[in-house]
Amino acid sequence: MTHFLDIHTTSPEDLRGIIDQAGAMKQARKDRPKGAPDDDQPLKGRMVALIFEKPSTRTRVSFDVGVRQMGGETMVLSGADMQLGHGETIADTARVMSRYVDLIMIRTFEEQTLLEMAEHATVPVINGLTNRTHPCQIMADVMTFEEHRGPIAGKKVVWSGDGNNVFASFAHAAGQFGFDLTFTGPETLDPEKTWLDWAAAKGRPVTIDRNPERAVAGADLVVTDTWVSMHDPQSARERRHNQLRPYQVNEALMAHAKPDALFMHCLPAHRDDEATSAVMDGPHSVIFDEAENRLHAQKAVMRYCLGV
Ligand code: CP
Repeated sequence: MTHFLDIHTTSPEDLRGIIDQAGAMKQARKDRPKGAPDDDQPLKGRMVALIFEKPSTRTRVSFDVGVRQMGGETMVLSGADMQLGHGETIADTARVMSRYVDLIMIRTFEEQTLLEMAEHATVPVINGLTNRTHPCQIMADVMTFEEHRGPIAGKKVVWSGDGNNVFASFAHAAGQFGFDLTFTGPETLDPEKTWLDWAAAKGRPVTIDRNPERAVAGADLVVTDTWVSMHDPQSARERRHNQLRPYQVNEALMAHAKPDALFMHCLPAHRDDEATSAVMDGPHSVIFDEAENRLHAQKAVMRYCLGV
């Protein structure tokens, strides 16, 4: 049984296979006559459970549409509406769900919930985001970069802002896909040391530079994310905004990157906080390609998990 729990726990060969398959499926869908069904229906007769303990637009819709495009069916479940939210153990939930469905995607708070689900499920489990990582997002980001600029290996990627769960998956991707990653942000919001140590051990130490202009110099890709993540307390909002304002991605900051640098944001964005609208809607931005590629990348992740 093959789970997709994180980028650092999936082999580089398997990750590359997923990206290649995602690209091939995207192209095949583009090439088919408009409105025609996909020839490839690898999930025909399969049921996929999509469990959300946190809000979602992209993850929810892209997984749902992706399953349907591949001939499968979905049930979208809110964690709060399940017995899981009322005291049933994760292990029992995993065992029961495995009797009904062929694949489980879960978006949850604690990483431990994901890991317990995977340990006790007898069907594959996919990480749709935890407080610590967001691997499906970064698979879409790598795919998007390579569509626009070719192989990401050896390129300079700069993350400006909060060292959050999305950054963590970028640190994993740096190790697995072989690119240089720089973090620029306040020391108080540094990424988790575990992930920095992991990337260093893979031979891709993350550069930390508190000066955003210097950090972004020569970047092939500049990335940011919301200043207050879903699991951060709202009481921290003002403090975070004050700390992160110098790291806003605006046109002046992008001018320090390579002239053909790309800009990414996993969305949802708070326009004119972490990134200005001028950048989000400007010539460097590929944010909507990035959002579209969630669909293609996750279709390939599901095929990888199911071996179909
Ligand atoms: N980027 C992302 O995961 O978006 P949603 O929260 O809308 O799923």
